[in-house]
Amino acid sequence: MKPSRWIAAGLVAVATAAALNAVPATAGRPYDPTAQSLRALAQRHGLYVGTAVDMAALDNAAEPRYRELVGSEFSTVTAENVMKWESLEPTRGTYDWGPADELVAFARQHHQRVRGHVLVWHNQLPAWLTSGVEDGSIDTAELRRILRDHITAVVRHFKGRIWQWDVVNEAVSDPWDTPSTLHYKGFWAEHLGPGYIADAFRWARAADPNALLFYNDYNIEAFGSGNPADDKTQFVYEMARDLRARGVPIDGVGSQGHLGTQYGNYDTLQVAAALRKFAGLGLATAFTEVDVRSQLTAGVRAGDSAEINPRLQASAANFSTLLRACLAERHCLSFTLWGFTDKHSWVPGAFSDPPEGLATVYDENYQPKRSYQELKADLIFAGPPFVRPRVPQQPRR
Ligand code: XIL
Repeated sequence: MKPSRWIAAGLVAVATAAALNAVPATAGRPYDPTAQSLRALAQRHGLYVGTAVDMAALDNAAEPRYRELVGSEFSTVTAENVMKWESLEPTRGTYDWGPADELVAFARQHHQRVRGHVLVWHNQLPAWLTSGVEDGSIDTAELRRILRDHITAVVRHFKGRIWQWDVVNEAVSDPWDTPSTLHYKGFWAEHLGPGYIADAFRWARAADPNALLFYNDYNIEAFGSGNPADDKTQFVYEMARDLRARGVPIDGVGSQGHLGTQYGNYDTLQVAAALRKFAGLGLATAFTEVDVRSQLTAGVRAGDSAEINPRLQASAANFSTLLRACLAERHCLSFTLWGFTDKHSWVPGAFSDPPEGLATVYDENYQPKRSYQELKADLIFAGPPFVRPRVPQQPRR
């Protein structure tokens, strides 16, 4: 480096150190971190805080608060549905980019990064595709071409505008599935075999060399027995390790983080250990779909505070567990909520027997809940030496 470069680099280092250690001064007023947004507080750690976005809610003029909060509280956004195959290509060969483009434009206006969700998943596939395979009009060779063309078209369309792509989503079974031995499950594994996973990453990389490519799944917050036959985190870990060993361009593992207060769940150290182990493979990590649902018992529905309070507190504790673990691991790049208000959450629709809800950090009237305050507190009361800025991930060539 030339001397002038050394000086410039030195100044940047000093400025960075100062920014990290100093409390920002506000003319005449003491700095109040509790008045800051999640995104502003996370920035000090180089962490991106995100939410899934429901485009109908974003566009609903009767509900301005939704749009305001997406723009002000978050530094990354994910399309809750509009980048899924059934939305992008409802009719074979005809793409509808409109709603997804709108989200990408919103993100740009609000200086937000975009997580692309999702390229390959067994759910929310268009009927022309699943029925074509079912009736035999689409054979294996054609199905593989269709998948390659879809990945290529979608990744190319958004090229340069997606930070992280969820390339493959939920490819691994759970211990409660049949057979209970963990295996590659679902439409793609059944019709193409597990080789589709490596193919998908290679096709995505060819279409956008700068996007970070993620494998995304749930129930991988912590390691269990260490046996890949019944420990899903271990199964995914070994899958990622094998993909890396074979030179497949995977850059990260996304842990969805769908928790429920009725389960045993994990402590922060267990979750941090899991993130660290993935980082040991040279992978970035992210929490991609965090929410913490609760059973809506008769008491909860009747407004009984003795039933509601423990759930709200357990929910806050679980959000906090995932965020603190992410803060502790420098390769954990983003923390995305799967919706931020109980007014627009997928939980009541997806979990109805028994009914579940209360899964997000703002209530149905957009009032921040205890879980929101705890996330904020975690971002405020964290710093060196144990919480340090993120290490940016470079896409693997
Ligand atoms: C959910 C959406 O939130 C719902 O609106 C939709 O009806 C079904 O899909 N894991 C994922 C997400 O990867 O895409 C799912 O999103 C939730 C579970």
